[in-house]
Amino acid sequence: MPSTHKWPEQGWALLQLVLVVALSNEEPDSSVVCRRRGGAECPQLAKDGDIILGGIFSIHRSWKNSELNYTQSPPPQECTRGIQIVQAMLFAIEEVNNSTSLLPGVSLGYRIYDSCGSTARSVRVALALANGNQETATDGPGCSRPAQVQAIIGEDSSSPCMAIATVLGPFSIPVISHFATCGCLSDKIRYPSFLRTIPSDYYQSRALALLVKHFGWTWVGAIRSNDDYGNYGMSTFVETAKRLEICLEYSVAFFRTDSEEKLKRVVESIRMSTSRVIVTFLSFLDLDILVRELARHNLTGYQWVGTEGWILDSYIARLEAHHILDGAIGLSIPKAHVTGLEEFILDVRPLSLSGIDSSLFTEFWETLFDCHFRQGERIEMKRGQTQRVCTGSEELFGLQNTFTDLSLMGIFNNVYKGVLAVAHVFHNIWGCGKTCGNKTQPDPKTILGHLKKVYFKTTEGEEVFFNENGDVTAKYDVINWQSKPDGSVEFVTVGFYDSSLTTDRQLTINNSAIVWTLNAKQVGLIHRVTV
Ligand SMILES: *[C@@H]1O[C@H](CO)[C@@H](O)[C@H](O)[C@H]1NC(C)=O
Ligand SMILES: *[C@@H]1O[C@H](CO)[C@@H](O)[C@H](O)[C@H]1NC(C)=O
Ligand SMILES: *[C@@H]1O[C@H](CO)[C@@H](O)[C@H](O)[C@H]1NC(C)=O
Ligand SMILES: *[C@@H]1O[C@H](CO)[C@@H](O)[C@H](O)[C@H]1NC(C)=O
Ligand SMILES: *[C@@H]1O[C@H](CO)[C@@H](O)[C@H](O)[C@H]1NC(C)=O
Ligand SMILES: *[C@@H]1O[C@H](CO)[C@@H](O)[C@H](O)[C@H]1NC(C)=O
Repeated sequence: MPSTHKWPEQGWALLQLVLVVALSNEEPDSSVVCRRRGGAECPQLAKDGDIILGGIFSIHRSWKNSELNYTQSPPPQECTRGIQIVQAMLFAIEEVNNSTSLLPGVSLGYRIYDSCGSTARSVRVALALANGNQETATDGPGCSRPAQVQAIIGEDSSSPCMAIATVLGPFSIPVISHFATCGCLSDKIRYPSFLRTIPSDYYQSRALALLVKHFGWTWVGAIRSNDDYGNYGMSTFVETAKRLEICLEYSVAFFRTDSEEKLKRVVESIRMSTSRVIVTFLSFLDLDILVRELARHNLTGYQWVGTEGWILDSYIARLEAHHILDGAIGLSIPKAHVTGLEEFILDVRPLSLSGIDSSLFTEFWETLFDCHFRQGERIEMKRGQTQRVCTGSEELFGLQNTFTDLSLMGIFNNVYKGVLAVAHVFHNIWGCGKTCGNKTQPDPKTILGHLKKVYFKTTEGEEVFFNENGDVTAKYDVINWQSKPDGSVEFVTVGFYDSSLTTDRQLTINNSAIVWTLNAKQVGLIHRVTV
């Protein structure tokens, strides 16, 4: 998934600072005492258990709309998507906890943090997960203590994962991401303890080029997010495209915090171009801004080609300006089904009980139902608008929004598989049969070693294992945006990509199932205008 945060330099500076602080030993003589700098980092959700899993997710996206001011203010801060991910993790943990065959009699706990979309904060909470929150640590020589968590699930995007994996790599604490796709994260010299349940963009970039080639589009424009996701992803696409004799008319980068002039230049490159196909490696957050601007300039009729960063994004599909993207085609993480997960995600009430920080639930409820609770100080009403008072018994049934929309089930499935992988590792290490006798804590290196060799099938029969780079087999659905009579968008699966097959069989597409931009039913229209 795309990065939700830029400013890598800042992240790195802070990272170094925190590292120094975390490793500094303030009283070198006498007895060894390590003291934590700064206030404690409290997890948003926590529960104890024999095995404790850390979670780092961007539940909120801290994103100052005062900096943007393009045409209208961006949507209110959203935590609904983050809550879905958290729910997926809690579901997996509860399922393992309940299971009588996988880790029987072993309880699973968790510590889940909100990184607020900030790389710097991700590193800080990763250190809190590794070190614990004690003020001082004296036990053991040189303040060595076992890590507080046995593995970490997260982050959502590539840049924060690179930072976390750099910090935790030397300690071999496994970091398993469900959504970070940057090919760079396969480098096991830099990120030795990083694994993921989402395929690397190494494959997606190639699949994207094959897709463009399949339709005979040889003259295209390219737009990418100006972050690790977009830059790495696009450079691999360009390499492959060249080999397939696809020519790029323009290639521009853009990031959501860029100036208005920068955005205008991107729009200009599109307006001045003669190609009608736009290949994107964009985060939905960047596409959001771009699409609104293109709608203002009435730049319709382009054939958009997208990545998993937005092609299945119901938020983008609900924008007023979504018609800009009509007929779009692109790659997505395969749709998935996990028995019981949908119901679990939508049943949010238990969340209010597992929170250390109950304000998360309160705020989530208020966003979900567009109401506010009377008590508490946060009654910031929009000018001229009155807001309903929450009763606490609002019903999700019939509600249609980004929370009840479960089109990202493939990603939730990735979170689920990550938790299950750790559970299977402990099951193996402890040699569990009908019971798990000896529950000695293994060291992180042992856990990591077993993770790299783990193999299991989920209850749905999906095989899970990692290659030597901590990557999974790349499988994608080919998705086509088709407008329904009521003006909404339907994500129709029109093909598949599977990297484990021979090159000529990797991509299969059902051409007759596709509806092109401007509701044209044949590829011919595009062919004509692309030449
Ligand atoms: C920001 O947008 C608002 C509303 O569209 C407008 O009134 C205001 O002048 C804009 N500010 C700047 C600095 O462009
Ligand atoms: C796991 O099960 C134990 C006892 O069976 C229970 O106390 C604990 O709350 C459960 N943990 C989770 C995360 O469901
Ligand atoms: C775990 O067991 C409890 C009690 O039987 C049940 O209510 C819950 O739905 C189960 N959770 C999962 C994820 O299977
Ligand atoms: C936008 O384009 C459509 C179709 O090309 C045209 O009918 C419409 O008048 C245009 N609107 C503006 C504001 O330029
Ligand atoms: C438990 O296992 C560890 C290593 O896996 C071993 O060192 C220890 O002696 C075992 N303890 C018991 C009581 O079997
Ligand atoms: C291809 O799509 C068409 C139209 O949706 C459908 O009728 C046909 O069965 C599909 N063919 C295959 C092989 O899936």
